[in-house]
Formats: sequence, structure tokens, C-alpha cells
Amino acid sequence: MAMTKPASRPVNPRFSSGPCAKPPVFDLAKLSDAPLGRSHRAAVGKAKLKAVIDGTREILGIPDDYRIGIVPASDTGAVEMAMWSLLGARPATMVAWESFGAGWVTDVVKQLKIEAEIKTADYGRIVDMASVDYDTDVVFTWNGTTSGVRMPNGDAIPANRAGLTICDATSAAFAQDLPWDKLDVTTFSWQKVLGGEAAHGMIVLSPRAVARLESYTPAWPLPKIFRMTKGGKLIEGIFVGETINTPSMLAVEDYLLALDWARSVGGLKGLMDRADANAQAIWNFCEATDWIANLAEDPATRSNTSVCLKFTDARIADGAGFAKAVAKRLEAEGVALDVGAYRDAPAGLRIWCGGTVETADIQAMLPWLDWAFQTEIAARADAA
Ligand SMILES: Cc1ncc(COP(=O)(O)O)c(C=O)c1O
Repeated sequence: MAMTKPASRPVNPRFSSGPCAKPPVFDLAKLSDAPLGRSHRAAVGKAKLKAVIDGTREILGIPDDYRIGIVPASDTGAVEMAMWSLLGARPATMVAWESFGAGWVTDVVKQLKIEAEIKTADYGRIVDMASVDYDTDVVFTWNGTTSGVRMPNGDAIPANRAGLTICDATSAAFAQDLPWDKLDVTTFSWQKVLGGEAAHGMIVLSPRAVARLESYTPAWPLPKIFRMTKGGKLIEGIFVGETINTPSMLAVEDYLLALDWARSVGGLKGLMDRADANAQAIWNFCEATDWIANLAEDPATRSNTSVCLKFTDARIADGAGFAKAVAKRLEAEGVALDVGAYRDAPAGLRIWCGGTVETADIQAMLPWLDWAFQTEIAARADAA
């Protein structure tokens, strides 16, 4: 029996976990002030790049003595830059509970060949961060985008650690509280929570990270796009907007628009509230529904950005095929785009809940999820 389709649809069906939905006020025409065809080193370009750094500091509440740089190659570029520039001075601990964290483990162990203790947890779980030796350099991902499991807080990280903490916070920054005193290197990209454009990343350095950069030279060669020092001194220009290579001024303008929008919704608190409300709507749905559950086992670790879900209905034999079929139905109806689980993650769905997504759109999408599930179950029963 065909299930009736819900009467209303999300206004914006974009629930991708990256690039994420643009801010609701986005309009290409609003980027017309971008200094296109001008040098990024001209006064106008430099001012825009500095506004990116200043606005990021203001909204994220980054301490004045932390450096903030715009770097190439998005979040990946920022993480690689940090690992290649800083690691090797002392042993490392590599912590991973999903695909991106696992990628950083591979780089450190197989490419940099650094002596490292590896701590991992399966999808849905988190590593006990209190069991980590913080006299080593520790690399971890704050919000595991592919498992929907996040650090609940930074309490396990001691303030007086001897090692550095290097944190990939790309799906956490602008949605979750980051304890800057516990983080020596923090990275994120524009394309995630603020719905900016891809290709540009940001790196935030604590004074201790800068001290390491100025006192330690890695044994391996560093390509120009990773180099943050010259003659043993930090290249300060990078941290006022004199980027290592040429940025897209259109992407810069777009990020500035996103920062303005972030201010208009109440800054970081407003962004966190929006993400919390979005995620809560999905958690409530899971609570009231007996065929779907959050992949994150401990409610304290549930992500409020990349909400990952698994189907729990005993009638489903082929988990991956079923989840793909549901995602396909949602996409075909134009009610939820790009909500299939990440390719390396357990079968299921992943629904982005960062602040650029409207709660009303999540609420309008959920009845469709019910519809797609029931319709797929019925189709499989008919075929059997
Ligand atoms: C946790 C995490 N790290 C790194 C990346 C890679 O980001 P980018 O493609 O912006 O370099 C992603 C992208 O989804 C991510 O979620």
C-alpha cells in the first residue's frame, strides 16, 4: 500500500555535510563588492583578508595572543601544514574515531614515520581522552564528521601539558564551544559550518605552538605552502592576511558575508543554539521512532552538526542498499539532498544540522524520512 506523501516540503533541501548549506540570507548578488581582478596584496584585498581574520577571532572568541591564518587547501591543508611543521619534536599520540581522524593517523605513521601511540574507537564511540599522555603531541578531530561523535568538552586535556594538541575542528568551529586554552593548533575550513566556499582553510596557533615553530625544525623538507617560518622566526604576515599564495577574493567576500550573517543571529551563541535546535529535532524524531537511532552511542557525544543515523529495523537485510535507496528517494523528491552516510562509515544517513540550516526545514524533512522508509520497506516486501 503506497504511503501518502507529506503535504509540505523543506524550503531548502540542502543537508550536505560539506560544502554545507549557504547562510539563509545568501545571494550571489551580495558578493558584488569582491575586488575581483585586483591583487590580493592591494590595500583593498589586504583589508578584506584582515577582516576575515578579525571577524573569525571576534565570533569564535579566540584569545588575542593566538595567531589566525588563512591557508591553502581547506581544512586538509591546515591540518597537514600543522602536522608537517610541528610534529617530530616529541613522540605523538594519534587519536581517531572515524574516517578523517584515521586519515591523519595514516599520514603521521606512514608518511612522516613518527613514533606514535595510536588510539582509536569504532564508529559511534569515542576514545577516552583522559587516557591520553599529554606530554606527547596529540592529534585528534573534535567532531567526527563521518560518525557524528564529538568531544563533549576539553576537560580531559590538562592546562599544563608539555606536548601540543593539534585539533581538526572543521565540523565543530562555529557550532560547538572550543576551549582555546586546551588547543594549541585548531583548524577548520570555510565550506563547513558557515557554508562558505571550499579551498580555503584556517589555522589557529597558540603561543606554545608558535614557540615550537620557532624552536624546532623538522628533519624533512617542507613545501612552500606549508612554511610558516623563515630563518627560525614566524612569518607574521601570514597572520594578518598576507597569505602564502593567492586566495580567491570571491571566496573571501563570501566568507565575510557568512560572518556578517553569523553576527546577525547572535554570534557563536546564536550559531550553537541553531545547530542544537536542528539536532534536537532529529533526536526527538529518533526517540519517537523505533526503526532509526543515532550512531553516537553516548548522548553526551552526539554531534549537533553531522548527525549520523542508523536503521535498526529487523526487516532490513541489506543495510547499505536500504540506506542508499532511502537517500535516493529523498533526493528524487527534492526534499533532502546528499544525506547518505559517508563512504567509509556504517550504512545509514547523515543529516547536516549546522547553523546555516533552518530548523523548519529539518522539521519539514522528517515526515519525508518516515515516508521514504515506509515506502522502501513496502517495496522490498512486494519484491520478496
Ligand atoms: C573532520 C574533517 N576533517 C577534514 C575534512 C576535509 O576537509 P576539506 O575538504 O575542507 O579539506 C573534513 C571534510 O568533511 C572533515 O569533516
